[in-house]
Amino acid sequence: MADVTDLLDAGERLDADGLRALQLERLRTTLRHAYENVPFYRDSFDKAGLRPEDCRSLADLARFPFTTKADLRDNYPYGMFAVPRERIRRIHASSGTTGLPTVVGYTENDLSMWSDMVARSIRAAGGRSGDIAHVAYGYGLFTGGLGAHYGAERLGCTVVPASGGMTARQVQLIQDLKPGIIMVTPSYMLTILDEFERQGVDPRHTSLRVGIFGAEPWTEEMRREIEERFAIDAVDIYGLSEVIGPGVAQECVETKDGLHIWEDHFYPEVVDPLTGEVLPDGEEGELVFTSLTKEAMPVIRYRTRDLTTLLPGTARVFRRMRKITGRSDDLVIVRGVNLFPTQVEEIVLRTPGVAPHFQLRLTREGRLDSLTVRAEARAGATPEIREAAARAIAAAVKDGIGVSARVEIVEPESLERSVGKIRRIVDLRPR
Ligand code: DLL
Repeated sequence: MADVTDLLDAGERLDADGLRALQLERLRTTLRHAYENVPFYRDSFDKAGLRPEDCRSLADLARFPFTTKADLRDNYPYGMFAVPRERIRRIHASSGTTGLPTVVGYTENDLSMWSDMVARSIRAAGGRSGDIAHVAYGYGLFTGGLGAHYGAERLGCTVVPASGGMTARQVQLIQDLKPGIIMVTPSYMLTILDEFERQGVDPRHTSLRVGIFGAEPWTEEMRREIEERFAIDAVDIYGLSEVIGPGVAQECVETKDGLHIWEDHFYPEVVDPLTGEVLPDGEEGELVFTSLTKEAMPVIRYRTRDLTTLLPGTARVFRRMRKITGRSDDLVIVRGVNLFPTQVEEIVLRTPGVAPHFQLRLTREGRLDSLTVRAEARAGATPEIREAAARAIAAAVKDGIGVSARVEIVEPESLERSVGKIRRIVDLRPR
């Protein structure tokens, strides 16, 4: 196979100085575009006493106001668009669980840039022109399916638009059409794994070589589980609809050391979630993005609520972000202790006798919140193994996270399975 450096596109070949210069030029253009065409941005810059020209260096961006999900909701549905509606070729919407969804729009150029970024991502993951790509992200308003689809086509892949659901058919398609690549949420990949086993087909003996997993947090332990069970490389893809969709950042298969952010199009900052102060690279905080080339819906300092750390580039010149620990919305506070589902995932996945399926249930007893971890036994786990597993999980949650949890080891196949983004937290506390 050709050395991957031969395949890099022009953006990936920039050196650090070239990248910074390009970012500044694009940033200034974007600020002007937003200010001139979106009343919301004009107001917010005016209130801060700033004009687009006040951004003379990348560091100056920190003087500009943030944009939040609430701002997008307030301007629902088309208020954040910076071009006439007739130039919008496609609409997507975020998977918002409460209230209004967030609507996003794309011009023809935006769709093309998005496809380029997903193509770049698939290539970084080890995909090549000529590969067959099975896309099991949901198709529709969610950006996962169509985003992956057009990116894979752009790279020159043969795309199987399976979408999510009908899991028995997914297994059949994988066996018959022989894809080298699968793009799906990690939790749905586990559902597909169950189905392979139910059909008595060995998941280690498929044509699959690479899985490109994202749209939800997942841990190194989950990577190991999926890689071993399917005999594939599992890499992480990140994105959000407000910024573009999948393909904002991607892990390179040769290093698997966090996700390179495609910084020539999406400028990242990490800020203190409480004060909003910009943190130096290497410190954990909330990820904030400014789009550098978007036409239809530029975003200026959009607060993702995702928590991560910026790190220097390795396999590419772009900076990396550490795998996301969680988003502030998923933070569970039990009796004053903060915890993310990913912390429990790490524990459950390294415990013998339990399957990689778990749920966190929150209840209130009297005045106190109480946490129950429900984890599924592996088929064939004896009562002794289950009891030992429950004890091990409870001890690890207590020692590692600092909270007492009840642990229930439930029957194999009894917890709800994911067909897209999994819901780990079941909150039964009275409102
Ligand atoms: O989930 C876009 C996407 C589709 C990304 C397919 C990757 C693959 P939204 O529905 O707008 O867009 O949700 C965005 O999902 O803010 C994160 O909280 C979470 N998320 C996305 N990718 C990852 C990841 C798509 N790799 C929200 N790791 C984001 C952790 C992720 N969380």
